[in-house]
Amino acid sequence: MRQFKNSDGQMMIGDLRATELAERFGTPLYVTDENAVRENYRRIKGAFKPYMPVRVHYACKANAALAILRVLQQEGSFIDAVSIGEVDSCLRAGFPPERILFTGVNVSNRELEALVNRKVMINIDSFSELRRLAEISDRPKISFRVNPGVGAGHHAHVVTGAKSTKFGIPKDEIVRAYDEALEHGFIPFGLHAHIGAGVQEAAPFVEVTEVLVNIMNQIEDDLGLKLDVLDIGGGVGIPYHPDDKAMDLDSFASEVTSRIKGKCTARTIAVEPGRYIIADTTVLLTSVVDVKQTPDKRFCGVDAGFNTLIRPAFYGSFHHVAVANKFERTADTLYDVVGPICETGDFLAKDRLLPKVDEGDLIAVYDTGAYGFTMASNYNMRGRPREVLVKDTSASVIREAESLDDMLRLERIPTRLMI
Ligand SMILES: Cc1ncc(COP(=O)(O)O)c(C=O)c1O
Repeated sequence: MRQFKNSDGQMMIGDLRATELAERFGTPLYVTDENAVRENYRRIKGAFKPYMPVRVHYACKANAALAILRVLQQEGSFIDAVSIGEVDSCLRAGFPPERILFTGVNVSNRELEALVNRKVMINIDSFSELRRLAEISDRPKISFRVNPGVGAGHHAHVVTGAKSTKFGIPKDEIVRAYDEALEHGFIPFGLHAHIGAGVQEAAPFVEVTEVLVNIMNQIEDDLGLKLDVLDIGGGVGIPYHPDDKAMDLDSFASEVTSRIKGKCTARTIAVEPGRYIIADTTVLLTSVVDVKQTPDKRFCGVDAGFNTLIRPAFYGSFHHVAVANKFERTADTLYDVVGPICETGDFLAKDRLLPKVDEGDLIAVYDTGAYGFTMASNYNMRGRPREVLVKDTSASVIREAESLDDMLRLERIPTRLMI
């Protein structure tokens, strides 16, 4: 959890008051601190760099705002993309195709053709995908995603590396996939696995690294192929709860790289952090519109619901909340922070101690940069909120709030219904 400055009881984001941002841009509002994005990128890259060359592929599914992509493009980041839409957004933000790795699942022929046209690297998920790609005349740079049988994560929905999931080629069949790729004239450059998301300890990453190293050695022994890049995927967690500890990145990097260096053909490690780079850089600001006391509960009703931030409702995720205009005042009153969506599951936070809240106050929901805006929806016909990027004393809109016209733009009423 990022610490924010307190200026006379006001929460500061960069050098700006949260309340000033809310007044200027309206709520709900996602606010991202550009300096924090750069710091996080440099920290994770810097943790691995002393040990071996590292490629940090920002997993842009976490937050694909063009301005955020541009910041990471300037930092020299690589990209992990999962759809042609993400690939094209990254190209528009200025990423060269050779810095983009596409890792899809159930990839259509149309998507494969588009990827080949864009000249990005393709991380293949199945034999079918390999064979269908081989039908296209070009031979792009490829790697394979193995299902390592090692899974971890903050919720069952995000554990991707376990045997029972839909992802990757089973580890017992992976050497055969490389053999077949060579027969088709591809020269694969790497091997990839992704265990899951929100993993707060090094052990499962070490375990998957050992699986990958063994497979690389088998590939070298059986096929004489020397793979250069060992990609351990993403999933590095962050401390969402004030009592959570941040993962010790230096020992994580040292433990993982010590299993690779001199033990297989890989000279480069790739990591694919999404959440780690972007989650704690962003707060969701939402206004208190209605405070309701019932016989059972005290509700702090705000203007953002699970249409704006779905993680609490979808995964039961914890996000710290604070009252931005009563910052660090004694928290002595218990609230559920709930939104305007017509469902009981519409909550941002439950049973939280806050300073006594009044209508007109401003709530800050922490760590909402990853899987916040990208998972927002128009449910209940509510537009997705404005996004703002702060750097020191300046604030720029990086995405406008959606209007009713934006939401209805693609809808049509057949003329026969208009008579
Ligand atoms: C292949 C792959 N890489 C990286 C990530 C990023 O995960 P996180 O944002 O938890 O780091 C994901 C998330 O689903 C993924 O599927």
